[in-house]
Amino acid sequence: MLYQIYPRSFADANGDGIGDLRGVIERLDHVAWLGADGIWLNPITVSPNADWGYDVVDFCAVDPELGTVDDLDALVAAARDRDLAVVLDLVPNHTSSEHPWFVASRSLRESPKRDWYVWADPASDGGPPNNWVSTFLGPAWELDEKTGQYYLHNFLVEQPDLNWWNAAVRAEFERILRFWLDRGVAGFRVDVAHMLVHDQELRDNPLATDGQTQRYNSNHDEVHVLYRRWREVAESYDPPRLLLGETFLPGVPEIVSYYGADDELHLAFDIPFTLSPFDAGALREVVEETEALMPPGSVPCYTLGNHDVNRFTTRWCGDDPEQVRVALLLFFCLRGALVLYYGDELGLPDTRIPSARRLDPIGRDPERTPMHWADESGGGFCPPGVEPWLPLGDLTINVADQRDDPGSVLHLTRDLISLRRAERELRDGAYATLVAGGGLWAWRRGERCVVACNLGDEPATLDNVDGEIAVCTDRARDLDACITPVGCRPGPASKELPTPGACRPTRC
Ligand code: GLC
Ligand code: CA
Repeated sequence: MLYQIYPRSFADANGDGIGDLRGVIERLDHVAWLGADGIWLNPITVSPNADWGYDVVDFCAVDPELGTVDDLDALVAAARDRDLAVVLDLVPNHTSSEHPWFVASRSLRESPKRDWYVWADPASDGGPPNNWVSTFLGPAWELDEKTGQYYLHNFLVEQPDLNWWNAAVRAEFERILRFWLDRGVAGFRVDVAHMLVHDQELRDNPLATDGQTQRYNSNHDEVHVLYRRWREVAESYDPPRLLLGETFLPGVPEIVSYYGADDELHLAFDIPFTLSPFDAGALREVVEETEALMPPGSVPCYTLGNHDVNRFTTRWCGDDPEQVRVALLLFFCLRGALVLYYGDELGLPDTRIPSARRLDPIGRDPERTPMHWADESGGGFCPPGVEPWLPLGDLTINVADQRDDPGSVLHLTRDLISLRRAERELRDGAYATLVAGGGLWAWRRGERCVVACNLGDEPATLDNVDGEIAVCTDRARDLDACITPVGCRPGPASKELPTPGACRPTRC
């Protein structure tokens, strides 16, 4: 299990209200106590923060607000002492528009860096070269008045896309990979791993009922060539390094293609799982499809949420603590590699952001607020009296109080992780659906482990199981003998699912 840390929001060691790498070191014991195998840090490289770290101006240095490369080295060492791996975020699709490469590229058509980005002449009417739209908002093209051409940006205007057909770009990124891998970093989460390569003919995307299908600016065959090469680089290290892709694609078949023949990415996020409604049938179908398509020897990769989607506590569970327990139990009993977003171990909900404090251009602040370590001024995140960069939420949900309470969500999370470590079948055993009907979803892992989750409003029962309950969302039933039919309680009848408007997958 990888524990995802949003560095600006985990722990602030120097008291400026912004989380930093020294803060992560100070709080690493929490991650080790939880039982994680490693951490993934959202971008720590230098950024003007138009897209909060995902617009990079220097790929081989640490942003001064977060620390230094020495701090990263210290973090890798501190993590190693605790048997934790450190995975970094790599952003190869685009740079910041302030990156010296782009500044040179846009300065004149003859610049040696011109072809590092995707430039194209205006259409005959002077408009953008084709109909591609940005993943965020508006056209994917911006006119550069000075040189009279448009540049491609699949995200913000401040995030020009690199031209991955250019061999020099490929060579430069191999150097960047090695820069960090040589420092003992365990691998990378590859940002928008499916985009990178664009159609050289710049063909229009086909129109769809809700916009367009990203046929020509996404999921190009050539991207697989890149990952086969990166896989060789990753495997040339001892121990081999990890490549985990943010494959933000709508369908499981496309996502699975990024595993190649076990020669591309080691893992690719199962985005449809995260974006699914919290519904037994919908989640089961995603998992069954994933299991059916996964290449032999590979494992799926699931997360309940991340810095791009509303927290699962709010998005799936309508802030209902009982449903939070069901979601965690379901998650930790899946077959695959799991990534847990900081704060989700507490059942932290979205934080309401007053309009004057909103920072993210597309509204993802509610899931990015500072960690709650204790119910005190600053929340244990920053010193008392300091204003954190984003507001703290309801501090009654915090690590210190939940650690003192064996019945807490935090202890449930930790006990599920520890059960998974102890039970080989829960880690590696095959998945097989047992019950699919109504609100109940039950499955077997390997020969001996059975998982039953009631996501519905009605009580449900499970037949033909014996043994004992290892962990139950109602902790009073832990270690009870299974006397069939085993009852699975529904969520409280008052449960209200968030309305589609309130539940915001950022892209789907
Ligand atoms: C990924 C990141 C997201 C970012 C986008 C553009 O989806 O997770 O936070 O805004 O890429 O880099
Ligand atoms: Ca700080």
